Amino acid sequence: MSPDETSVCISGRCKNGQDVIIHVDCASHVYPDGTVGIHDMCFSVCRGEIVALYGANGSGKSTLMEHLNGLMTPSAGSVYVMGKPCSEIKKTVWRHVGLVFQRPDDQLFAPTVLDDVMFGPVNLGMGKEEARAAAQEALELVGAAGLAGKTPNYLSGGEKRLVAIAGVLVMKPAVICMDEPTADLDGFHRLRIEELILRLRNAHGVSLVIATHDADMAARIADRVCIVHRGSIIAEGPPGDIFYDRDALLRAGLSPPEVVDIYLKYCDRKGVVPAERPVTTSQLLNAIAR
Ligand SMILES: Nc1ncnc2c1ncn2[C@@H]1O[C@H](COP(=O)(O)OP(=O)(O)OP(=O)(O)O)[C@@H](O)[C@H]1O
Ligand SMILES: [Mg+2]
Repeated sequence: MSPDETSVCISGRCKNGQDVIIHVDCASHVYPDGTVGIHDMCFSVCRGEIVALYGANGSGKSTLMEHLNGLMTPSAGSVYVMGKPCSEIKKTVWRHVGLVFQRPDDQLFAPTVLDDVMFGPVNLGMGKEEARAAAQEALELVGAAGLAGKTPNYLSGGEKRLVAIAGVLVMKPAVICMDEPTADLDGFHRLRIEELILRLRNAHGVSLVIATHDADMAARIADRVCIVHRGSIIAEGPPGDIFYDRDALLRAGLSPPEVVDIYLKYCDRKGVVPAERPVTTSQLLNAIAR
């Protein structure tokens, strides 16, 4: 990947006066082999918002996410969490920002699922009984309570992902970053995770950053969608704006959600100019009915 794109620099100010919880100030990361992971990346997360990162394979979504909880350090630029430079709060930043890895195997290590999910709270000094109850509750939330006694190694890909999500939920961080949380999940669990993401924000004020290839899911749950291309954000805004921005999608080699595709084809077939910007099924049905 070559850093030949200029990013749209986000000011770091949030609408409605919400706090900026994370601010990535024109950060770049070059891997030891010379590959550019992110380039001049400017990105912010506001309190209580759901942000989707939408980008092609290798565009830099995971690299950005690993900068948000201090796992990676930028080669240039800075990352601020709760107003403080990440470099200064490296040892505690993970308490504020939880990261569910793209590959659950990178996260799971304990002999049983329950031990794995309990590990974080116990490490924070919580008593064993309390940690066990918190872990069981987190497993329940993701629909994986039945896996508590199993060995993480023997779980299916989707089961591992659910346990990895529970392992971050149990820590109750202010920001949860989920790297492709619904990859390899069946329809039931996908819906459960979508509902959970919305509930975490609506009922608990958690901010969420979701990297995904599922544009329809991003359209359903995100307040803001960021298109990541060649290590930078080239467009960002509400789903209704971004998923109708043909130029940005084309430039990044991305498809719009199916709903958008169907609406545009419907308008084309009817010979009418698209007058609305539906991005969810119910918006589509309403738009067609009018
Ligand atoms: N450890 C590493 N060493 C060298 N290059 C790396 C390393 N990790 C990632 N990269 C490269 O950095 C770029 C960004 O990778 P990243 O994993 O952030 O992309 P992504 O958007 O998450 O992709 P995907 O959708 O496939 O998960 C890619 O070109 C990738 O090959
Ligand atoms: Mg990735």
